[in-house]
Amino acid sequence: MQVIRTIAALRAALAPYDRPAFVPTMGNLHDGHLALVQQARTLGDVTVTSIFVNRLQFLPHEDFDTYPRTLQADCERLQAIGCDIVFAPDEGELYPQPQTFKVQPPPALADMLEGHFRPGFFTGVCTVVMKLFQCVFAQAKGERHAVFGKKDYQQLMVIRHMVQQFALPVTIHGVDIARAPDGLALSSRNGYLTPAERAEAPQLVQALRTLAAGVLAGEHNVAALEQHAMQTLAARGWQPDYLTVRRRTDLLPPEPHELQAGQLVALGAARLGRTRLIDNWEF
Ligand code: PAJ
Repeated sequence: MQVIRTIAALRAALAPYDRPAFVPTMGNLHDGHLALVQQARTLGDVTVTSIFVNRLQFLPHEDFDTYPRTLQADCERLQAIGCDIVFAPDEGELYPQPQTFKVQPPPALADMLEGHFRPGFFTGVCTVVMKLFQCVFAQAKGERHAVFGKKDYQQLMVIRHMVQQFALPVTIHGVDIARAPDGLALSSRNGYLTPAERAEAPQLVQALRTLAAGVLAGEHNVAALEQHAMQTLAARGWQPDYLTVRRRTDLLPPEPHELQAGQLVALGAARLGRTRLIDNWEF
């Protein structure tokens, strides 16, 4: 496995290959990330994982400075599962000048849910993903594959729309959420939780599952179910941003006749102490 720091060296290393399969990450890798890499290995003739904590997608008060950076351990895990190339540029390599050209996703996709609570987040994500795609795919002669997790459900949807609208020759793959045995979605931010918070944390997915079960049981007052879910978490000491039922395709609220299994997803974000967790449950 090669660990590469510059765009020029990445392009040189990829030159012999036709079909790159790419997994963008911010590092501090857990089994959820590794499942994406395993999927990528089945798709291309060379597997590339990027590790880059992207300043553009953090708000000033967020955890950019304290985000866990564990490059050596990450590389050991990637090597063990057969990743071929780790692309780990520093900020000066990816953003040699301030990144003033940006990819601006449409408000209809990017200003709700996560984008509402983290303004500019999806502009930061789209900009770095577009740039990373240029680094990894620009010279590929065959198929190009990129793998994302459903953990960040809205991110996956926004990236799919970006690829479609810019006619990028990249196939986007979505991988199911990897969870701990107690149901908590694996996340680099779980490391911020105290032991007591870690024990409480699976209540987020529990609330989403209860919300989904209410819809499937025929309760048509979705707003009341959502409010109940928020209140349940708040009563347990959480600060919920949203718990809501949306259509899978565009993450808009479903029409009454669309309240059927197979089309919907319950999405939630809530703070537990100083840690903000997100999760979702397709149903
Ligand atoms: P990061 O949070 O490191 O996540 C990298 C990829 O791993 C994303 O596609 C995310 O959805 C996926 N992932 C994280 N936890 C997962 C889990 N428990 N199960 C399945 N997949 C999981 O998402 C980002 O980084 C950044 O926004 C990035 C796309 C790299 C752009 O900077």
